Amino acid sequence: MKVLATRRYPGPAFDELVDVEVQALAELKSPRPDVEVLIVANEPVPLELLPGLRLVANYSVGYDRLGIDELARRGVAVSNTPGVLSAATADLTFGLILATRRRIVEGDALVRAGEWRSEWANGIVAEEVTGSTLGIVGLGRIGQAVARRAQGFELRVLYAQRTRAETDLAEYRELDALLGESDIVTIHTPLTPETRGLIDARRLALLGDGACLVNTARGEIVDETALVAELVSGRLRAGLDVFAYEPSVPAELLALPNVVLTPHLGSATRQTREAMTRIVVDNVLAFERGDPLLTPVTV
Ligand code: DGY
Repeated sequence: MKVLATRRYPGPAFDELVDVEVQALAELKSPRPDVEVLIVANEPVPLELLPGLRLVANYSVGYDRLGIDELARRGVAVSNTPGVLSAATADLTFGLILATRRRIVEGDALVRAGEWRSEWANGIVAEEVTGSTLGIVGLGRIGQAVARRAQGFELRVLYAQRTRAETDLAEYRELDALLGESDIVTIHTPLTPETRGLIDARRLALLGDGACLVNTARGEIVDETALVAELVSGRLRAGLDVFAYEPSVPAELLALPNVVLTPHLGSATRQTREAMTRIVVDNVLAFERGDPLLTPVTV
């Protein structure tokens, strides 16, 4: 079965693919009817160029950019990589919570600029993490991994999501109530038509002065223009790993001291990325054997 992969995906599992060609989608200029399996990292699938496509093995848990409805209509199977990136994403979330709330990046910049001249007792003062209230929007695998880490920081943990869960990890709140009550809000919901723009200007205004918003999910879940306005005003703080138009980041954010910015690093550890490749390859091999997919995406 001819497999087209949009890059060489990391780790030894990739070498188990037999008939694989590596080519970026942008370089695909004419139809490739021979390709039956496509490996992508949540990229739009050009179905017009791949008329023989039968499987999209997505190297990502999120599949919001694939064009999933059209793939389903055309009977193309889809797999993703759930589970293996929850720990790495939750770790990064905590990195952003700590960096943003404790003003770590601001402190680093001050030292590097040679501007640390005051006694420590006159320097930067931030807000405590321990004992504050964390609101988790979306208590799926990653949200739960964040909630477990929050116990170590003695945080009071709230969660909001469409369906209420049986859980001891966090207390349920309606989304608006969670935003009003939390010192730190972190987003872990997938991007769907329902969650696009979920945190809009009205909801951002519910956050208390000085509250911190962390997003390691998808930029489009937040109204980015409204968020930029809140951050420019200095009323909120944010730790942002994802943006609405990646890799483009709103220019207004670049010089703001109250924002920590990272380039979509949620799953970016060697171990996690290799585990993602392992799942991708296992799905492809199962498909080639005619076995059920290990981690199918169903719409
Ligand atoms: C995913 O898997 O959806 C992530 O965004 C990659 O880190």
